[in-house]
Amino acid sequence: MQQAGIVVAENEMKFVATEPERGRFRFEEADFLFSFAQRSGIKVRGHNFVWHRALPKWFESEVTSANAEQVLVQHIEAVGGRYAGRVHSWDVVNEAVEWKDGLPGGMRDSPWQKVLPVTETSLGYIEIAFRAARRVDPGALLVYNDYGMEAEDSASGKKRAAVLALLQRMQTAGVPLDALGIQSHISAGSHTAFGPEHAYGPGLRGMIAEARTMGLKVLITELDVNDRTQPADIPARDAAVAATYSAYLKQVLADDAVTAVLTWGITDRYTWLNSASGRKDKLHERCLPFDEDLKPTPAFAAEVEALQTRNIG
Ligand code: G3I
Repeated sequence: MQQAGIVVAENEMKFVATEPERGRFRFEEADFLFSFAQRSGIKVRGHNFVWHRALPKWFESEVTSANAEQVLVQHIEAVGGRYAGRVHSWDVVNEAVEWKDGLPGGMRDSPWQKVLPVTETSLGYIEIAFRAARRVDPGALLVYNDYGMEAEDSASGKKRAAVLALLQRMQTAGVPLDALGIQSHISAGSHTAFGPEHAYGPGLRGMIAEARTMGLKVLITELDVNDRTQPADIPARDAAVAATYSAYLKQVLADDAVTAVLTWGITDRYTWLNSASGRKDKLHERCLPFDEDLKPTPAFAAEVEALQTRNIG
């Protein structure tokens, strides 16, 4: 395939998609993706085993502290087992940190946290999930993936600190972990907010360097650049989006720990950003390398230029 070395399912491999009823698994869409990838000679990322926003309805009524470990391990065995040996990397746990929830360690007050809590003495569902993932698919890179860690503001700084502390704790406890995933849902123009010299600067670079020191890889897992702060004029928006891609990628690619970059979608035709908060004027976002007609945008050129500085997936 010309434009990508790795693909990821935006929704089709999540818990709710693969286990819509307890113990009854559904793999049609994921199988389709794997056969497409195999035909095209490209890799597949797994997204994800544990995420508070991807749980099926039955979770709330059926999962208790008594059966949660069994439910989690069975899910990972079924889904991870089916694709074992064919997955580049699994987002084993997604978005487990939310320091605003006020729990020890900055853990998110999520459904998984309620039934298998991470406490001062236990890594709870996180340890169970990573150990099961390693057992089931020893060849896949195991990733902790999160968002809100990219910018220079104090909220992002607190998030980085809480995530790094969690990863350090996992390593100390011998929990298998190979990579940090930095989602990278960023905003056009935000690279200039702290002056170009600090564009996604010291905080982000420091986190990547820290991950490298810990022996981890870093994956840029869900890059897109929303243009909601930008005027309606298309050339102006495209220029701001492209400049932000360029500045961001130059920062992250400067560190060898970063071994993959994925955008969250390929074309503006299908981006989640149009159904999320979106633009006030209701115009569609121009956030990805290909526009709604699948034509390359200035962001595409900016990405190609940045990626040419490194041999990367
Ligand atoms: O397909 C159904 C459709 O049949 C139904 O009529 C419609 C009614 O709501 O829903 C459609 O499903 C939606 C699905 O996207 C496909 O469009 C879900 O409701 C909606 O919740 C889902 O949103 C996804 C979201 O994660 C929640 O799973 C977005 O597409 C996806 O881009 C987004 O991705 C997340 C990453 O997994 C984690 N990081 C943040 C990122 C953005 O939120």
